[in-house]
Amino acid sequence: MRPLTIDRLNPAIRNVEYAVRGELAIKAEAHREKLKEPDHGLPFDKVISSNIGNPQQRGLDQPPITFVRQVAALMEWPALAELAPNVFPEDVVARARELLHEAGSIGAYSHSMGVPFIRKNVAKFIERRDGFPSDPNHIFLTTGASSGVSLLLSMLLTGPKSGILIPIPQYPLYTATIAAFHGNGLPYFLDESAEWATSPNDIAHAVAKADKDGIEAKALVVINPGNPTGGVLDRNTMEHIVRLCEEHSLVLLADEVYQENLHRRETHPFISFKKVVRELNSPVPLISFHSISKGVMGECGRRGGYFEVTNVSDPVTAEMYKMVSVGLCPPLSGQIAVDCMVRPPVEGEPSYPLWKKETEATHAALAARTKLMAQRLGALPGASCVDSPGALYLYPRLELPQKAVEAARAAGKEPDAFYALQLLDETGICVVPGSGFGQKEGEAHYRLTCLCPGVDEYVGALENFHLGFMKRYGGL
Ligand SMILES: Cc1ncc(COP(=O)(O)O)c(C=O)c1O
Repeated sequence: MRPLTIDRLNPAIRNVEYAVRGELAIKAEAHREKLKEPDHGLPFDKVISSNIGNPQQRGLDQPPITFVRQVAALMEWPALAELAPNVFPEDVVARARELLHEAGSIGAYSHSMGVPFIRKNVAKFIERRDGFPSDPNHIFLTTGASSGVSLLLSMLLTGPKSGILIPIPQYPLYTATIAAFHGNGLPYFLDESAEWATSPNDIAHAVAKADKDGIEAKALVVINPGNPTGGVLDRNTMEHIVRLCEEHSLVLLADEVYQENLHRRETHPFISFKKVVRELNSPVPLISFHSISKGVMGECGRRGGYFEVTNVSDPVTAEMYKMVSVGLCPPLSGQIAVDCMVRPPVEGEPSYPLWKKETEATHAALAARTKLMAQRLGALPGASCVDSPGALYLYPRLELPQKAVEAARAAGKEPDAFYALQLLDETGICVVPGSGFGQKEGEAHYRLTCLCPGVDEYVGALENFHLGFMKRYGGL
């Protein structure tokens, strides 16, 4: 028998790269294990995972929203409502009873697009948000936004002559999934000097380049608010993007998982692409993604999300339905949390005051940390940092000394990965180097989350490391 070796696998799989869980994350895990030994010899006593937007992860410890967990508890074990009669507020008990009636046991498969009742609630949420009708039959509940993105990319890509326009820097789900489906990532660059703005002109150039290279651009990915940049699109840019999609027959894939993570709502509000497409009366096919993993819920592990299809014909929607049916259904625990996200307690209900207090506290903590970190990290010699108006990240830029660049090359590493590895080894702080998200030739960045409590101590460690690194390589 021939052994199963890598060269017998689908070659596309070997081209997949996923930096968020790459070399640094693996090393961070090894350090975490080592710290359990009494004489670990590491110069820190904890590993801080700033590499991934996973708010409830140990060490980041964003508190879950009580309302969500209470509804989830009663869905898991409905008898609890009677066994602990004074524990659950009456609106939670009523909500769980209603969901139980509509969805049945969470141990059963649901409709493959998700529980119809929950899809209706998602549609109502979208209508309230945008002021335009939404059809529950155009809503697919998903296993996190990732599974929806993956489905759409698998359906749109038609082989090595097809491509998807992606922002650079981008969240590596896109490059990884495009590679897995034998497609081409067609990069367009975001403008760091203008708060990581998206330029429709750059997108048009990327389409023209693809055309010249004999690659058909099938769809345009826009991440708003951005990851890793935190940039928030303005209305004018969004209109240009929609017109551009019309001109080039592009499907618009709007990744809007950070729509609730806004740190300066007055100047940088979130506007959905659904609203813009409807207001412009545009025929552009639009798929909009949302998730329970971000916002202030941060329920990453439950795996819930949805996408809405707009201007997509019934036969194409039917093909999507067929494909999601192959996977049976998204997890019920995720679907329940989607319901809580789109139908939070309202004023007058018993759960409202606590829900309000908890959500406001998390929003405020994120905004304050983002501001403080951007100021201090951007003020370091050889560094600059856009103060993100949205999402959960900062993406500081590094001007590394020539000696560091040479040392990195000698070690076979990208300069920012070289910096990030030393940061991890010296401080236990795990970030993702910019090379994992894509950047212009010669640039260096790193992405870190703004989820870490104890921000003073944390930023202090980053500052000390940076100054030491710059001195070591002749940059100071
Ligand atoms: C831009 C973006 N899209 C999608 C996802 C996937 O989220 P999930 O699958 O947990 O909903 C993430 C996760 O970090 C993200 O940053």
